[in-house]
This record gives sequence, C-alpha cells and structure tokens, in this order.
Amino acid sequence: MSGEPVILAEGLRKLYPGGKVALEGVDLAVAPGTVHGLLGPNGAGKTTSVRVLATLLGFDGGRARVAGADVATQARLVRSRIGFVGQYAAVDEILSGRRNLEMFGRLYHLGRRRSKERAAELLERFDLAGAADRSVRTYSGGMRRRLDLAAGLVLDPRVLFLDEPTTGLDPRSRAEVWRAVRELVAAGTTVLLTTQYLEEADRLADRVSVVDAGRVIAEGSPEELKSRVGGGRVEVVVARAEELAVAAEVLGRMAGAPPEVDRDALSVRACMGGRGAALAKVVRALDEAGLDVEDIALRRPTLDDVFLSLTGHQSGEEPS
Ligand SMILES: Nc1ncnc2c1ncn2[C@@H]1O[C@H](COP(=O)(O)OP(=O)(O)OP(=O)(O)O)[C@@H](O)[C@H]1O
Ligand SMILES: [Mg+2]
Repeated sequence: MSGEPVILAEGLRKLYPGGKVALEGVDLAVAPGTVHGLLGPNGAGKTTSVRVLATLLGFDGGRARVAGADVATQARLVRSRIGFVGQYAAVDEILSGRRNLEMFGRLYHLGRRRSKERAAELLERFDLAGAADRSVRTYSGGMRRRLDLAAGLVLDPRVLFLDEPTTGLDPRSRAEVWRAVRELVAAGTTVLLTTQYLEEADRLADRVSVVDAGRVIAEGSPEELKSRVGGGRVEVVVARAEELAVAAEVLGRMAGAPPEVDRDALSVRACMGGRGAALAKVVRALDEAGLDVEDIALRRPTLDDVFLSLTGHQSGEEPS
C-alpha cells in the first residue's frame, strides 16, 4: 500500500449491551484517496464497524486510527476530519434540499454566510441545483441519496463513511450515486462504504473486505475476490419436476457441492470453476443423463457465491 493508511483498524472488538459480540476482531487498512468496500450480509457487523470508526459508538478492544487521529482518545479530532452518511437518510423531508444543507452547516458551526455558500456549492456539485428549493419529499431516491452525500460533505472531510449508500435504489439512481462517489474520490477524499451488493463493490471499490459474523474473512481487489470464487454459476431449467433430482445430481457432482434447487422454477443452480469450459461440460453431462433441458445459462458469481465459497454457508444463513 502506498503511503500511510488513512483508516487503520486492528483487532476491533465490540460487544453490545446484553452480550452480543458484533465485532470479533476486525482488521482494516485503507489507503488515502481510495474507495474501500465492506461487503457482508445482514448482521455481519458493517454498520457497527463504520459507526465505531466514525466515533459514533464506543468499542471494547483493539485500536483504530482515522485521518491521523486515534479513534479512542482523539474522538473530537477524528470527528472534525470525517463525514458520515448513515444507512437511513438524515435529511428532513419537509425542508428543501438547500435548507437541509444550510442546517447542517449551522449544526457544524460554519456560520450563516459560509453555510449558505457551502450549500450552494454542494447542490451544484451533486446536480441538485435545479431542485434546490423544492421540498425533499418530491425528490427521487437517487436525488435524496445524493443530498445525503452532500450533507456528509459539508465540512469537506478527508474521510467519508457511507453505510449502504444505494440499498433500495433503482439501477439508474444507483449509477448516479456511484458517479458522485467516484468524483469525490478523484478530488482526493477517501471513502469507506458498506454494501450487500457484490456488483457495487465491484464497480466502485478499489479493495474490498468481506465481513461475516464480526470478522473480516477475506480482503482483496474485486477481481481477486471473484477469482477466489472461481468461475460462474450455471443455472439449468428442466422441463418436468421429475427431472429435478437428476439435474441436481449431475450439477452437484460437477460443482463438488450440493446445488440450490428451486422446485417452483424447476431450476437447479450451482457454482462452477472455469467459466466457459464448465458450461459445455454441463450440457454434455445433462445430455448423457438423458435430460430434457428447457434452458441453461451461465451467470456471473453473486455475493452468495462469494460467501458460499469463503464460508461454506449462504449469506442469508447463520453459520452452523
Ligand atoms: N444496538 C444493538 N444492540 C444489540 N445488538 C446489536 C445492536 N446493533 C446491532 N446489533 C447486532 O450486532 C450484529 C451486527 O450488526 P450490524 O448492524 O453492525 O450489521 P450490518 O452488517 O450493518 O447489517 P445490515 O446489513 O442488516 O445493516 C448483528 O447481529 C446485530 O443484530
Ligand atoms: Mg447495517
């Protein structure tokens, strides 16, 4: 990694009251001017990690430094150098975009004039100038999320934390948010974002830490992670319900793991190694088994595949 990491966490532990261990020793190093993704399923500890690093939540073990200051002992200094955009919107629905941003400026003690100037700059930068004086209620999902981003940037932070910036957005709004994040990073901001979407990590992050059950279980560039999953997933749709078992047997044998069977869709899915070659082999094997195949497709690995391959369990399931 070039230069000192701007976010560094070592062995972060967090217990919630009641004894739930949310973080079991999280390690993280993020280089300046990059986007780092925390990828993981519900309950993995993503929000807890970013809230701890943003000093919004105390922690019980380990060490962390953010933007040159110690998270435990220099929380105020950390706070003056970071922005935080939460999983749920912090903006006021009734107020206009402009009023919201001005309010954040006042909250951060920017003063009246500077708050107005900063709001105008940010509205321009996030393509919200045209809608600046409309109530946020009338904004699309993508516009709201861009306003959230702008609110996190009022203080021009060195480090921005984004908790699931695009969950619930349609593809177009998602692309708008991605573009806004890329522009920020091009201007020198470091971004740590959490996501449940492999695609988002893929498109946006320079490096990704995969989090599961309070631990980082893998770290690397999106390409490295995908190559660890090994190839694509094959989906086969059979013509008759009686054929599902045979298709599952064939795919399971080839994948070396039990496939997912969807009885309603008459489909069987399994993750294969070596993309192109696998499909041809599967077609041949199904044919030899005398199956009447309705449809067969090769898809890119999904987050579930990354999880299955890294943890041996699906992302939605509790580890056994
Ligand atoms: N205030 C709390 N008190 C007790 N347990 C909590 C609290 N907040 C979170 N947890 C638990 O800590 C674990 C990690 O939660 P966290 O919110 O960090 O996960 P997450 O990865 O952000 O999930 P999601 O994708 O659903 O947002 C979960 O098991 C969760 O139930
Ligand atoms: Mg969360």
